[in-house]
Amino acid sequence: EQAGKGEYDHFMLKEIHEQPTSLAQAIEGRIDTRNDRIALSDFEPGTFDDVESVQFVACGTSYHAALYGSLGLNQAGVRSTALLANEYSVSAPPVDDDTLVIAVTQSGETADTLNALRQATAEGARTLTVTNVVGSTAAREADDALFIRAGPEIGVAATKTFSSQAVMLTLLCQRIAADRQGEPPADLESLLPAVESMPSALDEVLDSSDAAAIARQYDDSQSYFFIGRGLGFPVALEGALKFKEITYEHAEGFASGELKHGPLALVTPDTPVFAIFTGQEDEKTLKNAEEAQTRGAPVVAVCPDEHAAVAVADEHLAIPDTNAKLAGLLANVQLQLVSYHAADLLDRPIDKPRNLAKSVTVE
Ligand code: AGP
Repeated sequence: EQAGKGEYDHFMLKEIHEQPTSLAQAIEGRIDTRNDRIALSDFEPGTFDDVESVQFVACGTSYHAALYGSLGLNQAGVRSTALLANEYSVSAPPVDDDTLVIAVTQSGETADTLNALRQATAEGARTLTVTNVVGSTAAREADDALFIRAGPEIGVAATKTFSSQAVMLTLLCQRIAADRQGEPPADLESLLPAVESMPSALDEVLDSSDAAAIARQYDDSQSYFFIGRGLGFPVALEGALKFKEITYEHAEGFASGELKHGPLALVTPDTPVFAIFTGQEDEKTLKNAEEAQTRGAPVVAVCPDEHAAVAVADEHLAIPDTNAKLAGLLANVQLQLVSYHAADLLDRPIDKPRNLAKSVTVE
């Protein structure tokens, strides 16, 4: 097992560091930044012409990637919603043959997600699976499959698969919007080169991260909060899930605007707040972070060096400046590292957290 980890103490840390490579693998040969600028060439032109609305179904980290995709699709002008697969049987919105149901599942074997996929098929929806495993049940059962090519992920905590899911969903959503609306979304021209630069941006984050020092600084806190707005919201949820999963400490993710609607009551000097800035209404997120700071909470801003939040926050985790559709994914890598180092300080069994399995094949 040690041989498989190479120079790293844990598979999770190895997989965090594999992200520049796994992402380069995911996007290779799939996007065309010249000529007619195609966001995702896996599907024939016009494949998604008839799609009226999209429902994403997924669980856990894959749900956060699905939410990331769904928010991006709404921002590109196509109606969509992300649903927890385990809630789908009791509360699925109606579907018809113009509804595309996208199952997002790293393993392709999650029982809850397979159940939702089967229900959508039975009710007449068109289906597509976004997965890491060729030949998985979800890939075989859906009408179409899109493979994220992240390579095997051994750590129970999903890391590199989340990044690849979110980037592939971003491309897929641009493609759906382009087919559906008969022309590429307005910002596609700047987005595609930014996607191609993601592997080097990820390298930059990994080479210069201060996450270990931040984890040490706040290691005896009572709770850890993560806030973000727009595409920063699913990243806040994912930051908190990763943190609780491997440290066993209490962590919660919120839409930053929700803080004042309840969670602010929990904020004290013992609850660091990680604020994610993606370039989507950042001034509002900064105001929310300051509201937490006023109650004594230390704020860690995850944003580029030249961002206004740096002067306000107590600490800063730097990310390269990039397109607003991708910034959250760079922030997420900083948060993965914070969780990893916090869990390591607590000597947790990082690759195999108690009570959890890599693939949940029971309902
Ligand atoms: C997160 O770190 C977990 N591994 C978990 O939430 C996971 O994302 C979820 O169980 C769904 O798994 P899937 O992607 O294989 O469907």
